[in-house]
Amino acid sequence: MSERTLAIIKPDAVKKLAIGDILGRYEKAGLKPVAMKLLHMAKPVAEGFYAVHKARPFFDSLCTFMSSGPSVILVLQGDNAIKKNRDLMGATDPAKADKGTIRAAHGTNIEFNAVHGSDSPDTAQFEIGFFFPGMEIYDGR
Ligand code: CMP
Repeated sequence: MSERTLAIIKPDAVKKLAIGDILGRYEKAGLKPVAMKLLHMAKPVAEGFYAVHKARPFFDSLCTFMSSGPSVILVLQGDNAIKKNRDLMGATDPAKADKGTIRAAHGTNIEFNAVHGSDSPDTAQFEIGFFFPGMEIYDGR
């Protein structure tokens, strides 16, 4: 089933010049970018995006990191896009991520982990709407 997911190439991966490698992995896996922008998030924007993690001890540090430099934010579309992207990314902690995954290749630790991907259809809907109005998403016309 074709679906959409939100992906973020985080500030650590952008700083390492890994945008091209990561975009290539999405494309080779059949995940087509249908919306994309480079954005340096203000801290309150990161706080809004990660509001679900507000009570976690790492929340402030995560939002400081996510607002430390530009990210690339994308909507990816394809068959089983949510799970496919999570498989491409690997485990949240790069030390536990399978060989060949994006986080194994580009992540540093559980916080500086190179990429984000939506974890469910409900989350994808919230996350895509958070960053992109419908008119900025290519609909195939
Ligand atoms: P992400 O997939 O973007 O979703 C939430 C983020 O919080 C996660 O990737 C990590 O960057 C970060 N995170 C999750 N768990 C921890 C943790 N235990 N310590 C620090 N950061 C974490």
